[in-house]
Amino acid sequence: MTVSYPQTRLRRTRSTAWSRALHRETVIGPADLIWPLFVTEGTGIEEPIASLPGVSRWSTDLVARRARDAAQLGIPCVALFPNTQPDRRSTEGKEALNPDNLMCRAIRAIRDAVGGDIGILTDVALDPYTSHGQDGLIDDAGYVVNDETVKVLVGQALNQAAAGADIIAPSDMMDGRIAAIRAALEQAGHDRMQVMSYSAKYASAFYGPFREAVGSRGLLQGDKKTYQMDPANAEEALREVELDIAEGADSVIVKPGMPYLDIVRRVKERFDVPVFAYQVSGEYAMIEAAVAAGAAERDALVLETLTAFKRAGCSGVLTYHAALAARLLGA
Ligand code: PBG
Repeated sequence: MTVSYPQTRLRRTRSTAWSRALHRETVIGPADLIWPLFVTEGTGIEEPIASLPGVSRWSTDLVARRARDAAQLGIPCVALFPNTQPDRRSTEGKEALNPDNLMCRAIRAIRDAVGGDIGILTDVALDPYTSHGQDGLIDDAGYVVNDETVKVLVGQALNQAAAGADIIAPSDMMDGRIAAIRAALEQAGHDRMQVMSYSAKYASAFYGPFREAVGSRGLLQGDKKTYQMDPANAEEALREVELDIAEGADSVIVKPGMPYLDIVRRVKERFDVPVFAYQVSGEYAMIEAAVAAGAAERDALVLETLTAFKRAGCSGVLTYHAALAARLLGA
């Protein structure tokens, strides 16, 4: 087919708002969003996070209110991240297994307040609970040991499931953890529990503000490159996804988001599986910094970036801008 001007003028369909609406290939709505929320101890507490302007840690009662806001805005799911008090952190991250830890109390508070009208996604990884800030157990040389860590992650997942989580999201990048978690969930009777695996999670410089938010920034020595992926690799991401699906994941996450849309697209093209992207803390901070510098307009940046995720093939996006975006899109 030869396409030539002036028979073809691609501006024709763009020339009015109604026509642009009619020809729009990608539509984003509140139902495409997952809202990450940080939890802290206490009652009636809001702690703003300096490196994430506009994002706070909330005590469990206020997290429950944010979850109710989410449901009212049409956001189907929230993702919880606890800021564990320093005296509850240990080298083995045992607090992850405490049925009354901050995460479990937040799950129950949301369930009490919102019932089944909201999905609750919980992160499985030990970094909010370890005194060294790594996502797993370490040996004498500081190496994060795989199989011993997986055993603890299984306990953490079962603990979250018992507290009422809907989606278990392992973000630790240990080998074999999806199979182990899935087997344990089935055995415990959690046959409706979803597992959304952070399959392609990169050792990224974009996680800095998150580590401040969960209180692990000052604790972490070294980096996470022996388990999180090399940002230079794409084929390896496909292998990670393939394994996680085979091991029982219902859906997969690519993380970070915007710099990794090529990974989203390749995963989507290769596998028939729901793909989510995490627009991470550093990406949020970049947008806010651009807005603060007068370089761009927030609403437009947020909607454009979220649209790009969907265009690339995402079923949905985890974003700290979820409430704002839902308000913009809901009308
Ligand atoms: C921890 C975890 C991290 C994020 C989500 N879960 C940070 C890390 O791996 O160090 C980052 C999210 C963000 O930056 O918004 N397993």
